[in-house]
Amino acid sequence: WPANVSVTDGVLDLAGLSVTELAATYGTPSFLLDVADLRGRAARYRDALAGAFAPLGVDVDVYYASKAFLSTAVARWVHAEGLRIDTAAHGELATAIAAGVPGADIGLHGNNKSAGEITLALEHGVGRIVVDSLPEIDLVGSIAARLGVRAPVMVRVTTGVHAGGHEFIATAHEDQKFGLSLASGAAAQALDRIHADDRLDLLGLHSHIGSQILDPAGFGEAARALLRLRADFAGRTGVLLPEMDLGGGFGIAYLPTERGVDVAALATDLAEILTAEARVLGTPLPRLSFEPGRAIVGPAMITLYTVGTVKDVVLDDGGTRLYVSVDGGMSDNIRTALYDADYHAELTSRSSTAPRVRSRVVGKHCESGDIVVRDVLLPADLAAGDLLAVPATGAYGRSMASNYNMVPRAGVVAVEDGQAREIVRRETIEDVLALDMG
Ligand code: LLP
Repeated sequence: WPANVSVTDGVLDLAGLSVTELAATYGTPSFLLDVADLRGRAARYRDALAGAFAPLGVDVDVYYASKAFLSTAVARWVHAEGLRIDTAAHGELATAIAAGVPGADIGLHGNNKSAGEITLALEHGVGRIVVDSLPEIDLVGSIAARLGVRAPVMVRVTTGVHAGGHEFIATAHEDQKFGLSLASGAAAQALDRIHADDRLDLLGLHSHIGSQILDPAGFGEAARALLRLRADFAGRTGVLLPEMDLGGGFGIAYLPTERGVDVAALATDLAEILTAEARVLGTPLPRLSFEPGRAIVGPAMITLYTVGTVKDVVLDDGGTRLYVSVDGGMSDNIRTALYDADYHAELTSRSSTAPRVRSRVVGKHCESGDIVVRDVLLPADLAAGDLLAVPATGAYGRSMASNYNMVPRAGVVAVEDGQAREIVRRETIEDVLALDMG
């Protein structure tokens, strides 16, 4: 749950407003954002990562991975907390620019960036473009030459480290689409090519090993691999690359029984690992950066739903399961269906003394995989009109939302100090129909 949550007589209060008031004003389903919690997380990541490396004389930048969720308000809030913005497509880049984030504080990622995306990034003077393939080197170079600028680039390296929750969100093993392979020599080839290209300014190396990582060992492994690659490159060319990015992927708690990564402990361990490796290699450490997305925004939001149909289903084992249908579903949270993700849910509009029974929260879409929470104990007297809240939905919820069944997408309501404001408006049927050209 977000930090500023309390419960009175069974009614959940978020940052000074009850969910019953919020539902009455903004409707459901809605994403509710605890602004102070979001900003606090951004500040904690900044302080923990910078603090661990400061004694080594190593500066750290934290980029917010905006794919997790972005709006201009969120870009401004995290930027005000000292984070930069990592973007991975035109819309994210355009949103960061619209928010007034200076180009120097924006990075651009992507395994298939368009010429338009690269052009917009360079025109806006982004701090770095993370190159993901050999052909892209020449594409960025030619656009930079046309614009009369030198493009700052990093190389995304596939280190072979396998980490992360689900197959679809692990990103540094060989057989996947991201990055340039360390093992095959493609990464070294990319470095040589960029080094020889006057149109490009080679900043350093990048690695993102996966997402929802709870075991921090992979970060150390990837960092060591990058430092060795950097030392090899220095041996060949005499150039010691000034920067190294270790990506995002810091795991969060989705269930009451889980714990997210302790970023301060992770940063301290990493500082030790890097110090030892740098000593072996005889090279000073580079400036570091990280790209957390989920860990900044995930726990700061909840999704508020209204309960509709409730039914008891008899299972093969003779037991029953309460199927609780809500007014959203896989269109606002695809993660359960796509990654077998686990979530929690609570009745938040009244107290109940009814026994808690095995339940499943499902959506209103036309398929049986439309599940929001696979397994949860909920009061047996749940009924139409009750409000259910699902915590930890801030990351990859609204940002991966769809209009399946032509449902209008849910809005995002930001709450702080008893004040609420829609930072992303709920779509209307008119919005959905507006794209239909007849
Ligand atoms: N940096 C790069 C280069 C990335 O590819 C990603 C995530 C991040 C940073 C941020 O990772 P985070 O800190 O949020 O874990 N839709 C999936 C997650 C996909 C992540 C893709 N890349 C999900 O809902 O779990």
